[in-house]
Amino acid sequence: MKSKDFLSMTDWTRDELDHALQLAHKLKKELKATGTHQTKPLSGKTYGCIFHKASLRTRISFETGIYQLGGNAMYITDKEIELGKRETIEDAARVLSRYLGGIVIRTYHQNDIVKLAEWANIPVINALTDLLHPCQLMADIQTIIEKKGRIDGLKIAYLGDGNNMANSWIETANRWEIDLRIGTSPDTMPDATILAKANAEGPGKVSICHDAIEAVTGVDVIYTDVWASMGAKDKSDINAERLKQFQVNMTLLRNAHPDAIVMHCLPAERGREITDEVLESKHSVVFDEAENRLHAQKGVMCLLAE
Ligand code: CP
Ligand code: NVA
Repeated sequence: MKSKDFLSMTDWTRDELDHALQLAHKLKKELKATGTHQTKPLSGKTYGCIFHKASLRTRISFETGIYQLGGNAMYITDKEIELGKRETIEDAARVLSRYLGGIVIRTYHQNDIVKLAEWANIPVINALTDLLHPCQLMADIQTIIEKKGRIDGLKIAYLGDGNNMANSWIETANRWEIDLRIGTSPDTMPDATILAKANAEGPGKVSICHDAIEAVTGVDVIYTDVWASMGAKDKSDINAERLKQFQVNMTLLRNAHPDAIVMHCLPAERGREITDEVLESKHSVVFDEAENRLHAQKGVMCLLAE
């Protein structure tokens, strides 16, 4: 019987997510105190890191984290294996399972990684698809807990494009008790299926606000992401027009709770979805958030190795 995968925030129960976050917290403390880890759960294992899109944070934090947990990381681009082109995903999954201890994959279609996970008998981790980015969310939740002391009961505004980050935030709101406001235009809405399920499951609440001030009023966290994602850069100008009221700037920030934190998964297009002034302000936690990619993903891999 195959161990679990991590393809979306809804793959795991709240208890499993909390457990992975506790492991992440412990590993972060241990690394800061000793520079290493006592136990190496990935010892003797090679993780294949398949990337079909650019990445700074995800690739480098995964590879570093795998080494720190005693494993070996192998970076694989589409040029080597041509996943789904040179042979079927079903065949590639079964062959890769004979060599590797796990797969981290960043690609376009969520269905491709679902198929890969179905046919592989090793853990598969979603390192971003067009639909979802759950590893980012684990680091985000870890950061919010560090800064605010809790996640349940918080008001969070996600502003901007209804992309993979927005979709993952909607799934996350229901894993904890989050009051999530998605501030976006009618033309940049998140995935309709994910949204339809949002308020039916779990204790969180998701609302759509087409007015930026309404979305951020009194919130504890403001979150944003680029207005045109990888693979959709042709939407850059049109989305800039559609989303201009949702730019995270000082004027908008004044409507949030005075202690509100500002988050961005990065990379940022400074001056577009967020201003320099906000990114460099005391409200911004973006670099702690980026650091936590390393710790949160190690929590995920340790849980998968249990
Ligand atoms: N936030 C994030 O996933 O960054 P990269 O695209 O650089 O990996
Ligand atoms: N929405 C962005 C996230 C990058 C981390 C993208 O998919 O390009």
